[in-house]
Amino acid sequence: MTADLKGFTPGIVTHYQQWTEHEFSIQVKANIAPYQAGQFTKLALKDQAGKWLRRAYSFVNSPNHDLGPDVMEFLIIDVPNGGLSPRLAKLQLGDEIYVGETASGFMTLNEIPERVSDLWLLSTGTAIGPFLSILAEPECQQRFSKLVLVHAVRTRQELVYQELIAKLQHEYRGNLIYLPIVSREQHPDIISDRIPNLLSDGRLMQAVNLNASKTSSFFYLCGNPDMVRDTRAVLSKLGFEKHLRRSPGHFSSENYW
Ligand SMILES: Cc1cc2nc3c(=O)[nH]c(=O)nc-3n(C[C@H](O)[C@H](O)[C@H](O)COP(=O)(O)OP(=O)(O)OC[C@H]3O[C@@H](n4cnc5c(N)ncnc54)[C@H](O)[C@@H]3O)c2cc1C
Ligand SMILES: NC(=O)c1ccc[n+]([C@@H]2O[C@H](COP(=O)([O-])OP(=O)(O)OC[C@H]3O[C@@H](n4cnc5c(N)ncnc54)[C@H](OP(=O)(O)O)[C@@H]3O)[C@@H](O)[C@H]2O)c1
Repeated sequence: MTADLKGFTPGIVTHYQQWTEHEFSIQVKANIAPYQAGQFTKLALKDQAGKWLRRAYSFVNSPNHDLGPDVMEFLIIDVPNGGLSPRLAKLQLGDEIYVGETASGFMTLNEIPERVSDLWLLSTGTAIGPFLSILAEPECQQRFSKLVLVHAVRTRQELVYQELIAKLQHEYRGNLIYLPIVSREQHPDIISDRIPNLLSDGRLMQAVNLNASKTSSFFYLCGNPDMVRDTRAVLSKLGFEKHLRRSPGHFSSENYW
C-alpha cells in the first residue's frame, strides 16, 4: 500500500486478452480480502500528474475458480477520452496495478430470495462480467431450475466470452439459456433491439421459451444506466417489484456509470 492510496494493495498483470479494438480482459494477481461472485473492487493507476485514478470493476471470475481467489479477471471497455480505462488498455504483462483490498456490491447469490427458481441476468456491454462470475459458482448451478443470460451489445464482435458461455451451458445441462442481442447490426440468427422493448412486448420471454412470474422469477439488471432505468420501468409495469432486504421483490440492479 502507498501512503496516498489507502485500502489498495499492489497487484501484477498476469494475462491480457484483446476482444475488440476497444474491449479487453486482464487478469491481475493480488492479495485482497475474500469476495463473492457478482461483486466488484477498484483498480487504480496514477495519471501523468501523479494523481491516483480509481474506478470500480466487476470480477468476471468466481472466487472459487481454478487459478485461486488471488487471480482476478476484469472485462473492460476503453472509453474514449476516459481517465483510467485508456491507461488500463495499455497495461502489459508484469505491470503493476493497485487493487482495492475490499470488494463491494449486493448483486450476489445470497441476496436472491429463497423462493426463486428462475434467474434472469440482463446485461449490456461489459456488465456481462459479474453474471459470468455468478454463473460459475457451484451454488448457482445447484440452486435454480432455469437461468437466462441476456447480453446486449452494439456489434456482434462484442459478444465476448463465447467459449466460457458454451462451457457453462454444457455444465448447466440445458438449464442455462443464453440470449445475445446486437443492437446496431442485423444478423439473421440474432435479435436486434433493446432489452426493455423486448421485455415489454414479451419477445424476450418468447425467444428463450420461458415465462416470467412473480412466484418463480428474479431479475438482476446490470450495465448502462439508461437500460437499467428503462428496464426497471417495464418490469414495474409488468407487476414485478423492486427487491429490498426488508421487503423481498423481483428485481435488483447495478449501474456502471
Ligand atoms: C459497480 C461498478 C462496476 C463497474 N464494472 C466495470 C467493469 O467490469 N468493466 C468496465 O469496463 N467498467 C466498469 N465500470 C465502469 C468503470 O468504473 C469506469 O467508469 C470506466 O472504466 C470508465 O472510467 P474512465 O476513467 O476511463 O472514464 P471516465 O472519465 O470516468 O468516463 C466515464 C464515462 O464512460 C462511460 N462508461 C463508463 N463505464 C462504461 C462501461 N463499462 N461501458 C460503456 N461505457 C462506459 C460513460 O459514458 C461514463 O459517463 C463499473 C462501474 C461501477 C459503478
Ligand atoms: N461499442 C463500440 O463499438 C464502441 C466503440 C467505440 C467507443 N465506444 C464507447 O464505449 C461506450 C459505450 O460502450 P458499449 O457499447 O459497451 O455500451 P452501451 O452504449 O451501453 O451499449 C450497450 C448496449 O446497451 C444498449 N442500450 C443503450 N441504452 C439503452 C437503453 N436506454 N435501454 C436499453 N438498452 C440500451 C445499446 O443499444 P443501442 O445500440 O440501441 O444504443 C447496446 O445494445 C461509449 O463511451 C462509447 O463511446 C463503444
